[in-house]
Amino acid sequence: MSVSDLFKPLTLLHGPAMRNRFMLTPLTSQQSDHDGTASKYDQLWMEQLSKGGYGLIQTSAATVEAGAIAFEHQLGIHSDKHLPGLIQMATAIREGGTLSAVQSSEFKILETEIIPKWGKKPTIESGILQHECELLNQQFTNYLSNQ
Ligand SMILES: Cc1cc2nc3c(=O)[nH]c(=O)nc-3n(C[C@H](O)[C@H](O)[C@H](O)COP(=O)(O)O)c2cc1C
Repeated sequence: MSVSDLFKPLTLLHGPAMRNRFMLTPLTSQQSDHDGTASKYDQLWMEQLSKGGYGLIQTSAATVEAGAIAFEHQLGIHSDKHLPGLIQMATAIREGGTLSAVQSSEFKILETEIIPKWGKKPTIESGILQHECELLNQQFTNYLSNQ
């Protein structure tokens, strides 16, 4: 594949094609409401991204069950009450010509691995330091490589 291929559409087995090969990597931002409902900040973030020309935008890792919440203010997809916010985000993404996807996750594992090191649950209010981001990044990489 050459670099110019990155700008070519990608046909998928089902649904519409991606208009190019650029995909936004999932990024946990911990800005959802406490119950996992998408907040106005989630919406604003997606609206900004939708103007970026991506072929596909994924949400951050979203909880698939109430008992598997790893971080405070994590996006949730485990209740019908989350649907309106998710639909609103997906609509903004698709209006920008981009495919939308939810990254579903069961990151309960992180609660035992990260919190003892951080001493507390990371929150956006407390601020995430560079080394904490690196640790989180490493944990995700380890988690995904064990899948
Ligand atoms: C703050 C932060 C949040 C992240 N959140 C997620 C996430 O929700 N889901 C996921 O699969 N990866 C997550 N990652 C990993 C990134 O998506 C990405 O794989 C990683 O930063 C490596 O990117 P690079 O290959 O461009 O260096 C996160 C990384 C960071 C730094």
